[in-house]
Amino acid sequence: MAALWLFTVTILCCFPKLPLYIQAMPPPNPIKCNSSTNICTLQNSYAVWGDRKECQVVQNSIIYPTNEEELRLAVANANKKRLKVKVVTKFSHTIPKLACPSNNNNNNSSLIISTERYDSIIDVDVENLSVTADAGVGLRAMIDRVAAFGLSLVASPYWEGVSVGGMISTGAHGSSWWGKGGSMHDHVIGMRLIVPAKQSQGYAQVVEVKGQDPLLRAAKVSLGVLGVISKVTLSLERGFKRSVTYNFTNDDDFEHEFMDLAKRHEFADIQWYPSRHTVVYRNDDRVPINTPGDGVNDFLGFQQNSVLVSQSLRATERSFENSKSVKGKCILASSFVGYKKTTANGLKNNNLIFTNYPVIGHQSKIQTSGSCLYSSPTRKDLTCPWDPRIKGLFFFETTSIIPAHKFPDFIRDIKTLLDLNPENFCGVDMYNGFLFRFVKSSDAYLGQSEDSIVVDFNYYRSDDPKTPRLNEDVWEEVEQIAFFKYGGKPHWGKNRKVAFLGVDKKFGNNFNKFIEAKNLLDPQKMFSTEWSDEILFGSNNKFGDGCALEGECICSEDRHCNPVDGYFCRPGLVYDQARVCRYSIGIYH
Ligand SMILES: Cc1cc2nc3c(=O)[nH]c(=O)nc-3n(C[C@H](O)[C@H](O)[C@H](O)COP(=O)(O)OP(=O)(O)OC[C@H]3O[C@@H](n4cnc5c(N)ncnc54)[C@H](O)[C@@H]3O)c2cc1C
Ligand SMILES: *[C@@H]1O[C@H](CO)[C@@H](O)[C@H](O)[C@H]1NC(C)=O
Ligand SMILES: *[C@@H]1O[C@H](CO)[C@@H](O)[C@H](O)[C@H]1NC(C)=O
Ligand SMILES: *[C@@H]1O[C@H](CO)[C@@H](O)[C@H](O)[C@H]1NC(C)=O
Ligand SMILES: *[C@@H]1O[C@H](CO)[C@@H](O)[C@H](O)[C@H]1NC(C)=O
Ligand SMILES: *[C@@H]1O[C@H](CO)[C@@H](O)[C@H](O)[C@H]1NC(C)=O
Repeated sequence: MAALWLFTVTILCCFPKLPLYIQAMPPPNPIKCNSSTNICTLQNSYAVWGDRKECQVVQNSIIYPTNEEELRLAVANANKKRLKVKVVTKFSHTIPKLACPSNNNNNNSSLIISTERYDSIIDVDVENLSVTADAGVGLRAMIDRVAAFGLSLVASPYWEGVSVGGMISTGAHGSSWWGKGGSMHDHVIGMRLIVPAKQSQGYAQVVEVKGQDPLLRAAKVSLGVLGVISKVTLSLERGFKRSVTYNFTNDDDFEHEFMDLAKRHEFADIQWYPSRHTVVYRNDDRVPINTPGDGVNDFLGFQQNSVLVSQSLRATERSFENSKSVKGKCILASSFVGYKKTTANGLKNNNLIFTNYPVIGHQSKIQTSGSCLYSSPTRKDLTCPWDPRIKGLFFFETTSIIPAHKFPDFIRDIKTLLDLNPENFCGVDMYNGFLFRFVKSSDAYLGQSEDSIVVDFNYYRSDDPKTPRLNEDVWEEVEQIAFFKYGGKPHWGKNRKVAFLGVDKKFGNNFNKFIEAKNLLDPQKMFSTEWSDEILFGSNNKFGDGCALEGECICSEDRHCNPVDGYFCRPGLVYDQARVCRYSIGIYH
């Protein structure tokens, strides 16, 4: 997401006729029901699943428990009736279709449990430095409660719109190689799960997992396939502040400097804008709670934008796509990076504006952000830039987690690809470039077995699945270099289907242990679906026309791309085992 309103003036001049939608603007509910048919559609926060197909459920098969016993009864009833069960959260941010219970939901064969109203309890245990929260509690609410007791949650994802249950289920993370590290699940010390049980046990029971119980290693990152998470206990530390400075510098040697950065700064990360030859080091350290400073992190990409601006940016991007204007994208990328530098990516010294580094503020105000989540009393025309109701930004999010020792070679390959034509990378630099974050080795079966770098980049997704994107081949090659040449593991809550190919083997014996735990807790596979199987077992067998364009397959024939529009299946330029859809008109004709 970009620094949108910088371009208001430019954009207003060129797209004066865009409609302005006026509505109440917190993000939409993921469940939408049609009152005449009683059929509901379940969506993620972008309103488009990876496969673009809808997920439908019958209205009366969605329930909204408010306490643990209601949750247990819901699972018990579903078990009695042999229904498939999936949990949906208030906003449902995960891109793979993990939350969908069944493809044929209008025959009453499934149950959706929403945790939207299961969010009342947040127990802070000051003596033992821990917090126990209901699974539906939002990250922001939990952080604020913890801070009110003078304590801090050390790790968190950068986006505060997630729920406690949802974020750990997909392995969500922030960035740190210090202490327990940047992954949320590595701060989990206990959980309460609702799992199916025998009739004699009331069809469902609460299982408490904590301490050294191997089930905790399975349950900490479980993609929702072990059972329903009722409560999560996370460890806390004494309250602290943070001091943040962004250092915009050249990208000559960052693949060697990253180790040092992560060792010197507790909450370091790196943004890389390859077409600009720029990296941004986040020098971010813990400072004592009494250090002066009331700064906040209001990350630009998660700020509210006017509907008009988001739509205009999308229209501009679409027009550059249609005219294959790499140059147009480069101009925007250059301006956005400049804007981010002057605004420090949305850091604000005294809650108002950015004036100077370092920005010092309470951990609770720096660790995560998401001001676009909240409706504004004065402006009803502001939303998150990707809000699906306004047809604003629409993009893919590729996130590959690469072992630290392979990172320098990975970057060298990307730099080789970059040197062939730096402008090819302007399309990601319009978003956040590449974001590199640090996660430590974890004992979670579906976590990282060694200290790793999370590589994250966003890029244009077409309105129409059969329309290729500009520099399609470049993004596909980067994706395949990350996941296949360097064995990157996928972030479970993001990515296109190809990222999950062969994922089971990447986890080795830990994968088998996870499946054992799953079979133990859910022998009837109540919580497994064709989509959770697809992600977990990384299978790929749908080779329809154009499948590679949306990352549903790796191309092996031209028809997997779009030969009519001039996109053919070709080897990679740097990684010759890659197979990518490349625009070849003009080269061969
Ligand atoms: C704008 C944006 C920014 C993001 N930033 C980051 C980031 O900085 N770092 C990062 O790691 N990720 C990030 N993500 C990804 C996000 O953190 C994950 O997708 C996360 O899982 C979303 O949490 P949620 O509460 O929306 O859960 P959902 O997406 O609703 O749920 C995730 C999965 O867990 C299951 N589930 C949820 N609750 C329960 C429960 N109580 N019991 C059993 N199963 C359950 C669901 O069925 C689903 O399969 C971002 C996503 C977006 C859209
Ligand atoms: C609800 O379903 C009916 C019948 O299929 C359809 O005609 C109507 O357009 C739907 N309403 C909405 C809001 O989608
Ligand atoms: C409902 O559909 C599912 C998926 O197609 C199928 O497995 C199940 O048997 C069906 N249930 C009934 C009661 O027809
Ligand atoms: C699903 O169940 C509801 C009542 O629980 C019933 O009204 C409806 O007809 C059922 N639908 C199907 C397709 O069986
Ligand atoms: C802290 O933990 C100990 C041991 O688990 C427990 O006995 C004690 O009750 C806890 N303290 C509080 C305030 O809950
Ligand atoms: C920014 O980082 C570069 C590369 O590590 C370093 O040479 C430079 O001194 C840093 N600048 C500041 C202001 O810290």
